[in-house]
Amino acid sequence: MAEIRNAAEAMDEALALLRAGEIVAIPTETVYGLAGDATNGAAVAKIFEAKGRPRFNPLIAHVSMVAMAEEIAELDPLSRKLAEKFWPGPLTLVLPLKPGGAIHPLVTAGLDTIALRMPRGFGAKLIERFGRPLAAPSANSSGRISPTTAAAVADDLGDRIRLVVDGGATPVGLESTIVKVEDGKLRLLRPGGIAAEELEAAAGAKLVRGTKSGVEAPGMLASHYAPGALVRLNAQDVVASEALLAFGPQRARNAEGAVAVLNLSEAGDLREAASNLFSHLQALDSSGAKTIAVEPIPYEGLGEAINDRLARAAAPRDSGASYK
Ligand code: TXA
Ligand code: MG
Repeated sequence: MAEIRNAAEAMDEALALLRAGEIVAIPTETVYGLAGDATNGAAVAKIFEAKGRPRFNPLIAHVSMVAMAEEIAELDPLSRKLAEKFWPGPLTLVLPLKPGGAIHPLVTAGLDTIALRMPRGFGAKLIERFGRPLAAPSANSSGRISPTTAAAVADDLGDRIRLVVDGGATPVGLESTIVKVEDGKLRLLRPGGIAAEELEAAAGAKLVRGTKSGVEAPGMLASHYAPGALVRLNAQDVVASEALLAFGPQRARNAEGAVAVLNLSEAGDLREAASNLFSHLQALDSSGAKTIAVEPIPYEGLGEAINDRLARAAAPRDSGASYK
């Protein structure tokens, strides 16, 4: 079983493991990541194995400075502007890979682009000390809910990794927003912890949504984040034996008949809702209910990313091969 160690005392052990080509689960401001040396193919292969992740699905490389990003990738002026404004923070930029760089091709699944972000907190310090980028997908088995606590990581991957660094509950609670500059336009590949409106304000232009080819964000499988229970969206009422994921001050009809009720945000605050989403889904999943009914959640701000994750959690489970 993995050792769970407080972030305040885990730095040296995490560094030693990374230097030995091992993988370590670490907290970031978004969700927990499963980190390995992005320049070491054997370490990156261990990440794919531990998650059971398809090898065609590339990983995000994490850096501690813009200069580190520049050694790896070409930053166009708009990407640089966004990096300067939002890094460190929950923004991932997909950028052209610089030829001859040190990143192992397994990280990018052989693509000529790379997804880069600069995290906050323990991860940032770890990368700075390590001196090299860390490849880190969310620290969950492929297709499952992203972990927002060290305990959730240990429950899922505990028998496959040595160390989980415990930094407490992750403050954002949703994965990073992924964007790519294409022909001078900013394309949203995955909604996440930074709202589209904030990016549009910084870029001075509207985001383009959806992928050009459909395979551009290979990780965006229709069925993802799947809890064991079924998920029913936009519930106006609760049916017998359902659990209820609530939002805001007003309850769905027959809420009192639910097996369990958790509210993402009593006040209807989308930021609070984002930070509670994955842990509440997990808790309702373990309530034993066959179905989790979800009250409607508005689409503005972080609501876009919340609705995106909920739609994936609700997607038919045999649709894993179709891209979205
Ligand atoms: O907040 C986050 O982004 C977390 C923390 C740990 O940093 N990481 C995370 O990684 O969510 P992961 O691997 O679960 O999701 C990365 C997504 C996948 O959908 C993947 O397909 C996409 O990024 N991606 C990676 N490289 C890409 C590229 N070159 N082009 C397009 N999409 C890419
Ligand atoms: Mg993930």
